[in-house]
Amino acid sequence: MCGIVAYVGRQNAMPILVEGLRRLEYRGYDSAGIAVHRAGGLAVFKAKGKVREMEARLPARLKGTVGIGHTRWATHGEPSDENAHPHTDSSERIAVVHNGIIENAGALRAKLEADGTEFTSETDTELLAHLIAAEKGDSLIDNVRSVLRRVSGAYGVAVLDGDHPEEIVVARNGSPVVIGIADKAFFAASDVAALVRHTQQVVYLDDGEIARLTKDGYEVTTLDAVPSEKTPSTIELDDMEFDKADFAHFMLKEIHEQPDAVARTLRGRLEPRFSTARLGGLNIEAKDLLRFKRIKMLGCGSAYIAGVLGAKMIERLARIPCDAEPAAEFRYRNPIIEQDTLYFAVSQSGETFDTLAAVEEVQRKGGTVLGIINSVGSTIARTCKGGVYLHAGPEVAVVSTKTFLCTLTVFALIGLYLGRMKDVSPAEGKRLLTALEALPEQMQQVLDREDEFAEVGRKYAHYDHAYFIGRNEGFAVAMEGALKLKEVSYIHAEAYPASELKHGPLALVTAQTPTIAIVPNDDLVEKNMATIEEIKARQGPVLAIAQGELPVEVEDLIVVPETHELLAPVLMLLPLQLIAYHAALARECDVDQPRNLAKSVTVE
Ligand code: AGP
Repeated sequence: MCGIVAYVGRQNAMPILVEGLRRLEYRGYDSAGIAVHRAGGLAVFKAKGKVREMEARLPARLKGTVGIGHTRWATHGEPSDENAHPHTDSSERIAVVHNGIIENAGALRAKLEADGTEFTSETDTELLAHLIAAEKGDSLIDNVRSVLRRVSGAYGVAVLDGDHPEEIVVARNGSPVVIGIADKAFFAASDVAALVRHTQQVVYLDDGEIARLTKDGYEVTTLDAVPSEKTPSTIELDDMEFDKADFAHFMLKEIHEQPDAVARTLRGRLEPRFSTARLGGLNIEAKDLLRFKRIKMLGCGSAYIAGVLGAKMIERLARIPCDAEPAAEFRYRNPIIEQDTLYFAVSQSGETFDTLAAVEEVQRKGGTVLGIINSVGSTIARTCKGGVYLHAGPEVAVVSTKTFLCTLTVFALIGLYLGRMKDVSPAEGKRLLTALEALPEQMQQVLDREDEFAEVGRKYAHYDHAYFIGRNEGFAVAMEGALKLKEVSYIHAEAYPASELKHGPLALVTAQTPTIAIVPNDDLVEKNMATIEEIKARQGPVLAIAQGELPVEVEDLIVVPETHELLAPVLMLLPLQLIAYHAALARECDVDQPRNLAKSVTVE
């Protein structure tokens, strides 16, 4: 999704902005641009396509120490040079980059057009530039404040004014803005990835805050000009973590990082003495946790699917009714929030707009919501009362892989913790704890078989459609497997509960529609065999992901090691991730930045 970077200091801004934009490429975008103060006014360069295409348009010698940059993911208006940010007013005195959506843009734009303002783009952002330029206040920050008080919607913005060449104004409402504090230089960005190369000292803006940055300092106030007390925090991220190292793609690197990532998620959280887990950040006393009668997971996309699996794990271990719901569906159905329901917001980025809105809906109605988040200090993490961080390290590829499996690991820990306070015996707790300890090593064994999965990925790459089926946990694995395949390879992949196949979808099973069957070694193996036979009878090729040999013959069989039954999804997903990756490579897809997708969906 859109990305913002801004710099004010003593160095040449242009290469810093371009590098910052490169760091934001992983978020997904379709055009890029920068604006820099130079002698004689603002210089603006932008282009549809990749950052390198915009960079090709930059003059060799563009000097200026104050500038802003943007990667755009189209919302209002198609991807084009004209719609790329920064946007300026008619005199090119004001330049604005913006993440989010201005909801009352239509009415405000119509009024300006009626008064004779000519717009050069279809975006809602250009409106901001015209409105700020029309303000008559003495300072840029006052003019921006005045405009932002009149707009509704979500925004993170950065603004330059040719009449105030020493400063940048940034503001936030619903879309993240973080200020980076370096030596004699200040940065702003929508994502710490753009800053981490220069500084680890940051200040997060809260909604309704606006800041003025110069080379000598920054000041944060509210839109009503009340000073905000901000304490810088230190981000524990290494610039190298945003590097592909020797891997061809971030997706592949992150798939192979999973054993280490899961080991980090587990570190210090297992309590062998009592066969339980230790979770410091929940901020709820054990006795208070026990009063909850239900648990609900909220998230979007893969985070929602992880919630589906998490709900099954916790329900089985803690014998508390649990379910999961897509966050956007939840927030728009005026949900009944019960005091004895515990909500978990699941999000790797901690910035997904719909998940945040669901959290706020729960909190507004007096409910308790905890975060299962990867990005430390992200908006959802800060909004929740407490929670559990994944510690997976930054995930750069648009598709979730390591954060998905680390989320499952966290749910296993929560289930173990709650279960041991209820009916799970010490022996049963120990069985899960021992399986968790062994998990990273088992994951590594599966990943070491990449060649086997690559061959399968290539073999299935020519199909246009695929079904993924499973029962219970297997169905949730099928959902995530199908999502991975469609995201990166653009093969149409649909997940169905295996039991539902004969209620309709079987009509589409032919020799041209393979089915990927998830067959854990549980008490439903026979039922799954019956479904596989039905598919074979219609000439449908079957690829089975199982935990041992199967009594029926299938086109392809991938066997993963036995583990605790609740952890089987972790091992079964590894081949599915690599199959999706290699199918995408065979189809020459842009694996790390799939078309139309964004890493962090910060708009509705
Ligand atoms: C997963 O591969 C996706 N790209 C997507 O579904 C993602 O999980 C979803 O947008 C939620 O993101 P979050 O975890 O950052 O909230």
